[in-house]
Amino acid sequence: MNTEQKPGSRIQDPGSGAEEFLPINGTDYVEFYVGNAKQAAHYYQTAFGFQPLAYAGLETGLKDRTSYVIRQGKITFVLTTALTPESLIAEHCKLHGDGVKVVALWVDDARKSYEETIKRGAKSYLAPRVDKDESGEVVTAGIDTYGETVHLFVERRNYNGIFLPGYISWNPLYKPEDVGLLFVDHMVGNVGWNEMNIWGKFYADVMGFTQLISFDDKDISTEYTALMSKVMASSNYRIKFPINEPAHGKKKSQIEEYLDFYRGPGVQHVAMATNNIIETVTKLRNRGVEFLRIPDTYYKTVLDRVGSIDEALSPLQELGVLVDRDDEGYLLQIFTKPVEDRPTVFFEIIQRKGAKSFGKGNFKALFESIELEQESRGTL
Ligand code: FE2
Repeated sequence: MNTEQKPGSRIQDPGSGAEEFLPINGTDYVEFYVGNAKQAAHYYQTAFGFQPLAYAGLETGLKDRTSYVIRQGKITFVLTTALTPESLIAEHCKLHGDGVKVVALWVDDARKSYEETIKRGAKSYLAPRVDKDESGEVVTAGIDTYGETVHLFVERRNYNGIFLPGYISWNPLYKPEDVGLLFVDHMVGNVGWNEMNIWGKFYADVMGFTQLISFDDKDISTEYTALMSKVMASSNYRIKFPINEPAHGKKKSQIEEYLDFYRGPGVQHVAMATNNIIETVTKLRNRGVEFLRIPDTYYKTVLDRVGSIDEALSPLQELGVLVDRDDEGYLLQIFTKPVEDRPTVFFEIIQRKGAKSFGKGNFKALFESIELEQESRGTL
């Protein structure tokens, strides 16, 4: 694995032609399958400042599921729960706990996106379908990715409704204000032992993504645990999918802990951007979001490593915000604890000030913090 590569630079995969065969405008939405969507929606409103947008359920003619759609900035989450034990959604929740089922990608031509990726080896999840209502039509089509996670291609150029056909506006009285989250910066997948390269190749061959950078276990290991990571990105850089696999250490890798509790590969974290991380994280913390604690020792040496930054160090230290620098600038980032009882999915809050990388310099500090958490769970 090449670890000499400059952060943010690209290994161009010759002849992938991604611009032609799979142009992606951005993340359309992220759908979580959860045990209780009503309560999950309340949590994401209250704790994370998402705003109510749309709803589908028994009242709209669905028999097997309920979905709440919430939005903040350009980030759209769909929280879906099963209404019957026979539902595949119920099966998904039983096996994985709450987790990400759909990473939906906004495209101009869903049929072409489907055909081109199927032609290159993708497995079909949903053949192209057209849904209509009085606001127009939406074409969706889907392919499988790692574990039971799927990508849906969403074509909405002929639609001006609230979300998707079948959804009605959801406008409750309860609307806590937002916290300044703007868009999905990247989404990370955890895959099994020795599977990182297989899934890196999937994103390169099937979706025309290029590899940005890779870390190996020498970069990302503490005394005890390790992982390997490779970042795949769409040609316009709007979609970035780091892929992690566990690596051997003296004790259990945090990726292995995830795989054990999620019962297989899945989305590890969703990184959401802000342009004022101190303000955003202060609000999140006041609303009950729990973040990983960073040892004070980190802040004794951080400026030696990253040089001068615009922010005062004390609020960063107080909140536990991490700093890293690459050739193009620096970034500020922080990680929540898992947001469900299984130690699986969590969130990252990130503010980029030029840097295009993912905080490689913080991995060690971060892992030491995660290990403290693992130790308290008895899973190290
Ligand atoms: Fe991240």
